[in-house]
Amino acid sequence: MDKMFKIVKDNAKSIREKSVDVDPITPEIIDLANKMADYLKHTQDEKYREKHHLREGVGLAAPQIGKNIKVIVVYYEEQNEDGSIRVIDHRLINPRIISESVKQVYLSGGEGCLSVDGEHEGYVYRNYKILVKAFDAKAQKEVVVTARGYEAIVLQHEIDHLNGILFYDRIDKANPFKQIEGAERL
Ligand code: CO
Repeated sequence: MDKMFKIVKDNAKSIREKSVDVDPITPEIIDLANKMADYLKHTQDEKYREKHHLREGVGLAAPQIGKNIKVIVVYYEEQNEDGSIRVIDHRLINPRIISESVKQVYLSGGEGCLSVDGEHEGYVYRNYKILVKAFDAKAQKEVVVTARGYEAIVLQHEIDHLNGILFYDRIDKANPFKQIEGAERL
């Protein structure tokens, strides 16, 4: 990687600012999205991560690297039930959620964020299924992404960053581990 990103932390004012639409979508923006995905890939390599003192991440939004523009990436691998590997790789420009399920989902261990070093315990409830419309930097065209479960959680977490929202804003302060009926626990 030619250049390491410096991750903006949650004490910076800019992390709370709303990001602006990308228009026009230039080759430089596509390149940025690709570099962000490369960064995540690197953080998932234990040796690389330790050498460069990085934290492992599965999602990254442009405000986290000091650019308040609507670009998010999600990258991770998961194992299917038959043992094959599924790569989740979204490089999205101007993403917007166009549909969401009533059903909720949450991570039993709570969420984390490369911009957040402090401990914030509690459940973050999100929509179990979402449809996201965006310009896909890989396909180089408008797409609609359908995501469920963990993938939907990560996408919503990253899209929140574009609105200056952090995961712990969504934890019920009075009752951090409150149960919502019908929500899927992951
Ligand atoms: Co985050």
